[in-house]
Amino acid sequence: LRSANGRLQLRLDAAPGTIEIGGRTANALSFNGGIPGPTLRLKAGDRLGVTLHNGLEDPTNLHVHGLHVSPEGNGDNPFVTVVPGETFDYEFQLPADHPPGAFWYHPHHHGLVADQIFGGLYGAIIVEDPEPIEAVRERVLVISDITLDGQGRIPSVAPMEQMMGREGELVLVNGQVNPLLSARPGERERWRIVNACVSRYLRLRLDGQQMQLLGIDSGRFATPEAVEDIVLTPGNRADLLVTMVEGLAVLEAQPYDRGRAGGMMGGSGQPRSGTAAGRARLATLTVAGEPVTAAPEVPVQPAPRDLRGSTVTARRELTFAMGMGGMMGSGGMMSFTINGQRFDGERVDITVEAGSVEEWTLRNTSPMDHPVHLHVWPMQVVESDGGASGAAIWRDVVNVPARGQARVRIAFDDYTGRSVYHCHILDHEDEGMMGVIEAR
Ligand code: C2O
Ligand code: CU
Ligand code: CU
Repeated sequence: LRSANGRLQLRLDAAPGTIEIGGRTANALSFNGGIPGPTLRLKAGDRLGVTLHNGLEDPTNLHVHGLHVSPEGNGDNPFVTVVPGETFDYEFQLPADHPPGAFWYHPHHHGLVADQIFGGLYGAIIVEDPEPIEAVRERVLVISDITLDGQGRIPSVAPMEQMMGREGELVLVNGQVNPLLSARPGERERWRIVNACVSRYLRLRLDGQQMQLLGIDSGRFATPEAVEDIVLTPGNRADLLVTMVEGLAVLEAQPYDRGRAGGMMGGSGQPRSGTAAGRARLATLTVAGEPVTAAPEVPVQPAPRDLRGSTVTARRELTFAMGMGGMMGSGGMMSFTINGQRFDGERVDITVEAGSVEEWTLRNTSPMDHPVHLHVWPMQVVESDGGASGAAIWRDVVNVPARGQARVRIAFDDYTGRSVYHCHILDHEDEGMMGVIEAR
């Protein structure tokens, strides 16, 4: 769905239903009957209006992940609750200088986020480039995972799995198992990849093909880099160009070790999946036929804004920790905290001044990685696990490795109001690894 005359208006129906997944009939959740939900295409300066109807049995709401829009009122407000049977009218106004890129939408009702996304509620948002980048075709690949039992239902998740962050047995691309893609040699395609998995990190490879990374999240590299693999934490997006080379290629997710919680449980604790599950075949690409003439040069992008020279008005430390003895959901054994506290929507944890630049040190004292996400305001990574970053890298989900740290800068240029930051392993978020930020 594409905006026209500066506006896109649509209705999203969140509802349970039966959906074909990999040749089986699954009982899942969806927006407007599809997994993923419709792809929304916008331009900077556009207004997006969404009437969300809740046809679920639980409360829900809607978040536009990564968009730089107001968190207040009926904007990107994570504190809205839409009860079953009700509708809510959202209005998102993109600023005229909104960065292009791939974004996504999903529910954000605390305590139910992992279940609802795992169930199938997500979709992509594309903010178009101001200057088009030439490509023969564009593909939006929304990657998610799900587990289905013999009856096609999603089994309830065990407390241990919840603590690790659930990973589904099936990894889907646009709701399909191993879809077949085809192209001709020499064609250049634009791929927008969304990691909509609840907890699974994706280390993507497409051996034999030429990949150039234009950007991650809303961040762009001035000169697109040739890459062999791309790591996307839950919530991250990649924007890339693929130049087709004759042959058969597999889009694969390779093992990624995001740590384990076993030691803390005093037991064996299974090794974390990326690792245990090994490789997953996501899609198969056939490149054959009459070659087309070489694709044009990739244009140089405008250099991203660099906050490393900015005056920092406040420095903060955020410690992400897992500990024993919390009241974890149904399990009652682990607590997930930021600076020693679990999420409380009535409390404001961080107050920032509009117009300031802050530097946050994100520390992780636990034996698992936590992908840290801040709403509304993107983060610029200045240091990650001991190494200074060479280029200005903007992301809205930054990985904080097990027992490691990352340092980011954030420009609170505009927008006032309350929003949240949290671990994007959504089981951790639902267990309380989330805080409230208010810009004044
Ligand atoms: Cu993708 Cu707070 O979320
Ligand atoms: Cu978000
Ligand atoms: Cu986490």
